[in-house]
Amino acid sequence: MTDLVVRRLLVDIEAPIARHWCGGDAFRTALFNALSMSFPIGEQFFIDSVRNGFKALPKPAQQRFRNEVQGFIGQEATHRRLHALFNGHLEKQGLANAWGPRALERMKMLEGVDVRHPVAITAANEHFTAILAEWMLRNPDFLAGSDARLQTLWLWHSAEESEHKSTAFDIYQALGGTDEWRLRWFRRVTLIFLGDLLRQTLSNLRRDGTLWRRSTWRSAAVTLFSARGLLRQTIGPWHAYRRADFHPRQQDSSLAVRWLAEHGDQFTPVRA
Ligand SMILES: [Fe+2]
Ligand SMILES: [Fe+2]
Repeated sequence: MTDLVVRRLLVDIEAPIARHWCGGDAFRTALFNALSMSFPIGEQFFIDSVRNGFKALPKPAQQRFRNEVQGFIGQEATHRRLHALFNGHLEKQGLANAWGPRALERMKMLEGVDVRHPVAITAANEHFTAILAEWMLRNPDFLAGSDARLQTLWLWHSAEESEHKSTAFDIYQALGGTDEWRLRWFRRVTLIFLGDLLRQTLSNLRRDGTLWRRSTWRSAAVTLFSARGLLRQTIGPWHAYRRADFHPRQQDSSLAVRWLAEHGDQFTPVRA
């Protein structure tokens, strides 16, 4: 079992943020803003799925998972709250969140299904967030020049995603979820996640008036396709999920551990 600490971040997310808060880079700002737009609705779904999965476990297994599930819910609830504040600034800047409402519509289709389906969807999404998080922790210079508060917000969130990356996966296995459905949902989540991320990023750029700037596309090429780019560095870990013997803990978490150890002045534990 994983010991998950819930932390209160000692940064003020209520103060306004710059339009191109990510080091003045329009593309990265639009990409990370798009991700943030998916978080409040998505993370509430993860909380509900894990909670319902936990309740469906036999009593001895519940005993094993109780603390970890509480920590998972506490961490995601904190992310959700801070990203909702962050997203409030984006709305004031004239950006429109279409991802959240679209995800909400899709979630309605899951009402009444076997509890293992939402848990499998959560495990797949958690793999995505964990590999994104590890990429961000490995390449923090993509956030260079950003408002220090926001660097902390993104790297703290990344570290906690890495920390709790096994929870939904382990609950899915404890519920007797099959590999066939795990992979079926992973393929669907991949298509939906990448489609939504692309659409929301383009929408953010269009509203920002920076979609057709050469600098935007130059940054997109570096951020996504260079040797340290998001796609190049996450394709391997993406494939790993498809192995029959995959487990999230096989992915390296050392950067998350190090970030949390070195930035203890930026949060207080509220629950250990
Ligand atoms: Fe999160
Ligand atoms: Fe998460």
